Amino acid sequence: MVFKHDVLIVGAGLAGLRAATEVADKADVALFSKVYPTRSHSGAAQGGIAAALGNEEPDSWEWHMYDTVKGGDYLSDQDVAEILAKDSIRAVYELEHMGVPFNRTSEGKIAQRNFGGHTRDFGKAPVKRACYAADRSGRVMMDTLYFEAVRKGIKIYPEFNVVDLIVQGGQVAGLVAYELATGEIHFFHARSVLIATGGYGKVYKVTSNAFASTGDGLYLTYKLGIPLEDMEFVQFHPTGINGLGVLISEAARGEGGVLRNNAGERFMERYAPTIKDLAPRDMVSRAIFTEIREGRGVKGEDYVYLDLTHLGEKKLAEKLSDISSFVKIYLGLNPVTDLIPVSPTCHYMMGGIPTNTHGQVLDVHHNPVPGLYAAGECSCISLHGANRLGCNSLLDLVVFGRRAGAHICDELKNLPWVEPPPAPESATRERIGRIKEKASGDKAVVIRQRLQEIMTTECSVFRHEETLGKALDEIRALEERYSRVSIDYKGDRFNTDLTDALELEHLLALGEAIVACALARTESRGAHWREDFPERVDGEWLKHTLAQKTDSGVSITYKPVNISRFEPKPRAY
Ligand code: FUM
Repeated sequence: MVFKHDVLIVGAGLAGLRAATEVADKADVALFSKVYPTRSHSGAAQGGIAAALGNEEPDSWEWHMYDTVKGGDYLSDQDVAEILAKDSIRAVYELEHMGVPFNRTSEGKIAQRNFGGHTRDFGKAPVKRACYAADRSGRVMMDTLYFEAVRKGIKIYPEFNVVDLIVQGGQVAGLVAYELATGEIHFFHARSVLIATGGYGKVYKVTSNAFASTGDGLYLTYKLGIPLEDMEFVQFHPTGINGLGVLISEAARGEGGVLRNNAGERFMERYAPTIKDLAPRDMVSRAIFTEIREGRGVKGEDYVYLDLTHLGEKKLAEKLSDISSFVKIYLGLNPVTDLIPVSPTCHYMMGGIPTNTHGQVLDVHHNPVPGLYAAGECSCISLHGANRLGCNSLLDLVVFGRRAGAHICDELKNLPWVEPPPAPESATRERIGRIKEKASGDKAVVIRQRLQEIMTTECSVFRHEETLGKALDEIRALEERYSRVSIDYKGDRFNTDLTDALELEHLLALGEAIVACALARTESRGAHWREDFPERVDGEWLKHTLAQKTDSGVSITYKPVNISRFEPKPRAY
């Protein structure tokens, strides 16, 4: 069956929802989600959304812009950081007016709290900039925007995996989706497609990401020859529940929690004397691993403690209730009285599909592809640079989701329909047929687990040429094994055995791109720490990486960083 809509939005997290609600009154828009839409991973965001409202203490968008650029270790494009910081105030009030139930100050204003890397006066001290709804900020924003989408009558295709993007003569013609409930493959004809499929944390073994975070949207463009940007920059959040990776929000430290080593020492005082436990995530994660490596992990093991015991029962119940219940459910501990074992967990990908500030996807010559957009974590608008600050992600989603939606509407005025090729879904039918028809072969789960092991041991917080080289060889061997992947369940209804196998192709390609880019960047910057090259080298490396998929592997080129207000300086906190 062939479907037709002006605009197709792939992903029903916050970026997709915000773009869709912008387009809804002006064009026929449809929203795809490979999960039930309200299960999208934006709903897992805990701590808040950054905006210099100044409700609790003086603040300014210039300080916010500076923190974003410095937090990104000067790899952030400064024109983009300026748009974000300036627009954050409007964006948060817009959410409030839509009905997001933010916590309040005693005067009834939106309450704000501290978060890592957010400071006043260009780095002098922490500032309360994070607007929040307890520790379920993403959940309430998702619910509010989803209701808005339903209210506007947006057509939603739930549990549809988008598996191919159809581009004809350099312009978008539509996409191909696999319907999980029936196993049917459909072509959707369209003039514009926005990819908003989120991150790909499942490339690592321990992650705060949902099972659905497999980078499907990135792979749609990558396989067409569109390069991916800044893939080496992978964020590890310092406080995952040890061994599980379940997120314990940075809001816990924003509210006063501290990290302690085996001697009970508040070790962040040594690494970031000014803002201590509120340093950016890359620094805190490195500090935790350094403590562990130097023998100061708790009980000689690979974790440290997060201490919330001094916050008191009332504050924990009012402001950190979800994480308190996670600690009880997963660890059987009570944060009111017990220390929480934590270790870094893969949390966020700075790299993604390159876009301009209107969300238009840029091809290998840096030109926009007509009709093709990306927003949110799957995109790289060059905002977060080498390390994203906490609470800048929810903000990115609503600010740049809206901008992409607005630009789609403008572009549509002059964008003709493009005729699709005959049988646009035939490549997908062949791809699925190849996997289903194999009677025996490698199992997807075995290959995926090995990929996750390799990425975790050889390409996480600390990196080195030797281990990266080994990882690249191993991933290529896994890709070869993947050509023989087979599945046990051959049926059509809810065949997650099949969708797991399809997603594995994406994870392998993205893992290879991460490692290849990490190997090429012979310096340390933000979340990319090379033990064999521990210095940041602006003269040579103040540039964005572009990784293109070719038949002989990953081809790497670079493009300049936009520096408008803040000249790069050594990054101390
Ligand atoms: O720690 C957190 O609540 C995460 C926030 C974020 O990634 O922005």
